[in-house]
Amino acid sequence: MASVYLRDKKACTITDVNADRLWENLIGLPIPEIKWFDSIGSTNDVALQWAEKGAPDGALVVADHQSAGRGRMQRRWITPAGSALAFSLILRPRDDEMIHLTHFSGLGALSVSKALDELGLKSEVKWPNDVLIARKKTAGVLVELVWQADQLQALVIGIGLNVAPASIPPPPEVVFPATCVETMLGKEINRWELLESILRHIFLLRPRLGETSFMKEWEERLAFYREWVQVEQPDQTILVGQVIGIDEEGGLRLLTENQDFIVVTAGDVRLRPIVGQNRWSETGGNPC
Ligand code: BTN
Repeated sequence: MASVYLRDKKACTITDVNADRLWENLIGLPIPEIKWFDSIGSTNDVALQWAEKGAPDGALVVADHQSAGRGRMQRRWITPAGSALAFSLILRPRDDEMIHLTHFSGLGALSVSKALDELGLKSEVKWPNDVLIARKKTAGVLVELVWQADQLQALVIGIGLNVAPASIPPPPEVVFPATCVETMLGKEINRWELLESILRHIFLLRPRLGETSFMKEWEERLAFYREWVQVEQPDQTILVGQVIGIDEEGGLRLLTENQDFIVVTAGDVRLRPIVGQNRWSETGGNPC
């Protein structure tokens, strides 16, 4: 079931309790329209189609349950009902934002991390698009673009966040250690307040894309800083190096064993601590 909310709540005919709470929590943010779904395949798919049909900047798609949620590298993203945040924000980049397209994943991940700060949870951003708490994956960001010929029309920032324990994928699904907000916090939270906080940070950070202060904040939260990692590239070759930062374009800066500085830029990159050199190893990865 889908519902379109306009900014005027009187225009709404929705009675769903989640949708009501969602609406109440998002008042005050520059979100012109919201589509709410009790259950949908993927909020990113809906957002991409909506963007193609002219959705305005800031339009939002939110679902309680996703049956075909997608992550990077064709992974599944599981969103059981009542336990997680799954949403996609449509942005129409302005001319001055076009040169910072590679920063939008960081914008999403950094905003989640800053929202978790407000709950008293320390988190890190695993380049390019994951948010970890205590080194376990808690959220993922999937940025997708809508083109018309060679003109970028819109981009969709899709964010999935594990809130309640039921959102943590079962072991066969997990290819990376995963956790959720409530487990790490030791109490239940209102996920719609958390959604408001993430979106608020996105809108606050957006004007700072590309600025030194934005890059610094992103880098300060970088997971595995100064640790040895291996990066699997799209052609499956492996790069090994120490994580030393993020470059201006949003690429991951590594220092190799030969003391060479390299930057990893490809979208389909895996970042994995090397077994034996770090305290733990990634043994799986949820889509999640
Ligand atoms: C990843 O870790 O690979 C990114 C996961 C992104 C999942 C979110 S959930 C909301 C939105 N809809 C999707 O189908 N995917 C994103």
